Amino acid sequence: MTNVNSGKLSSARFAEATNAFVEVFTASVDFDQRMAHQDIQGSVAHAAMLCKIGVLTEQERDDINSGLAQISGEISRGEFAWSIKQEDVHMNIEARLTDLIGIAGKKLHTGRSRNDQVATDIRLYLRSEINNITGQLTRLQTALLDLAEQHADTIMPGFTHLQVAQPITFGHHLMAWFEMLSRDQERLQDCCKRINIMPLGAAALAGTSYPIDRQMTADLLGFSRPSANSLDSVSDRDFAIEFCAAGSLIMMHLSRFSEELILWSSAQFDFIEIPDAFCTGSSIMPQKKNPDVPELVRGKSGRVTGHLISLLMLMKSQPLAYNKDNQEDKEPLFDTVDTLINCLRAYADMVPHISAKKGNMYNSAKRGFATATDLADYLVRKGMAFRDAHEVVGLAVRLGIESNRDLSEISLPELQQFSSLISHDVFDVLTLEGSIAARKHIGGTAPDIVKAAILTARQNLQPIQHL
Ligand code: ARG
Repeated sequence: MTNVNSGKLSSARFAEATNAFVEVFTASVDFDQRMAHQDIQGSVAHAAMLCKIGVLTEQERDDINSGLAQISGEISRGEFAWSIKQEDVHMNIEARLTDLIGIAGKKLHTGRSRNDQVATDIRLYLRSEINNITGQLTRLQTALLDLAEQHADTIMPGFTHLQVAQPITFGHHLMAWFEMLSRDQERLQDCCKRINIMPLGAAALAGTSYPIDRQMTADLLGFSRPSANSLDSVSDRDFAIEFCAAGSLIMMHLSRFSEELILWSSAQFDFIEIPDAFCTGSSIMPQKKNPDVPELVRGKSGRVTGHLISLLMLMKSQPLAYNKDNQEDKEPLFDTVDTLINCLRAYADMVPHISAKKGNMYNSAKRGFATATDLADYLVRKGMAFRDAHEVVGLAVRLGIESNRDLSEISLPELQQFSSLISHDVFDVLTLEGSIAARKHIGGTAPDIVKAAILTARQNLQPIQHL
C-alpha cells in the first residue's frame, strides 16, 4: 500500500491527505513553540528514565541528549525551522531529533503520549513563569514599602463612597495596596503546590505497559510527586484555571490602584504627579498629560478575567480524558502570563517615581470635615451617648458649611453652644494630626503604627523560592 500522506502524523492509518486548511486549522505550533524548552527538559528526563529501565541503551540516551541540546540551541538562536506539517511543538522537536540522530529519536516517544507530554510542558512552563511573576510582584511590593515609608506622616483624606470620610496617611493607603499584593503572592504560591505534580507516565490516558519509574522522572524534573490517576493527569487543567483566577485577582488589584492613580493625578484631585516617562500627551490638546500606564493596566485587567472565563468554558463539558479542545488552553494562558508580567513590571518601574502633593492632600482632608467622627468620639468619652453625639456634630458641621470653616476653625464658645461637654482640649482631636495620632491600634493609621507595619512587612517579604 502506498502512503498517501508522508509527513502526516499517524499517516499509515489515513487513506487521504489532510485538507490543507484543516492542517493549518488544527496546528498549534505557532503558539505552543513557546514551551519548547520545557518540552526538551521533559524529554531529557523521560529518556534518562527509559534508559534506567532498559528501554533505551546508554548510547541511545546520550544521542538523544546531544540531539536535544543541539535543537535547544537552534531554537534559542532562532534557527529552528518550525513546520505546520508537524502540527505542534512536540512533533516538531521529535521530527528534528530523528533527522539529527536517526532511530534513537524514534524511540524517545516510547511509554509516553503527547497527552501527558503537553500536560507536563504546561506545568513546567507555568512553574517557571510564576517565579517571574512573583519576582515582579516583590519588586512592586518593595516600591510600595519605600514610598509608604516616605509618607508615613503624610496626611490625606480617606474616602468612603468617594466622599471624604476620615483623615488617613498616604503611607497607610499605600500599605493597603501592599496587603492586597501579599495575598496575591500567597495565592500564587498555593497554586504552585498543585501545578508542581507530574503527569508524565499517564501516557494517552491509561498509563503504559512499560515498567516506568515515575518517581525518578518526577525527581529529575523537580516535581513534588507523580500524579495519582492517569485519566485525571491528561485531562486536568484546574491548575491553569486556578492560576488565571489568581492572575485575575492581581489584575483586579492593579486596576483598582490604576483607578486611584488616575483620579488622584487629575486636576480635580491633584494629589499626585505621575512621572512624565509614564504618561503621554494628546495629539490635539497641547496641555494634556495622560496617565496612560494606569489606564492601560486598568483596561488589560478585563482580558485576564476574560481568559479565566474562557478556560472555565473550555473545560466544562469535556468528558474524560484528553480532548483536542485542550489545545485551546494555551493562548489564554500565555496571554495571562504576558499581561501579568508586563503590567507588574510597568507598575514596579513607575511607583518609585510617583510624587505626592502633600499640601493638596492636606487641604483636601481639611475641607471635608474629616474629623467629625473624632468630635463625636470626644463627646462620647465625656459621657454623651453616641447617637446624641452624632446629632451634635451634625449641627457643628452645618455651621462649618454655612461659614465655610473646618471644624478646627470654629471657636470654642461657638462649639460650646452645641454642648457644654466641649472644652479647650477638643482641638487636640479636631486637628487632622490629632485624628490620625489617635488611631494607634494594630492596623490603624497613626504614623507610628504605619511605620511599624512597614517594618514588619519588610521583614516578611521573603526572597522568592525558586522551584
Ligand atoms: N497540541 C496538542 C495540545 O496542545 C498536544 C496534544 C495532542 N494530543 C492528541 N491526542 N491530539 O493539546
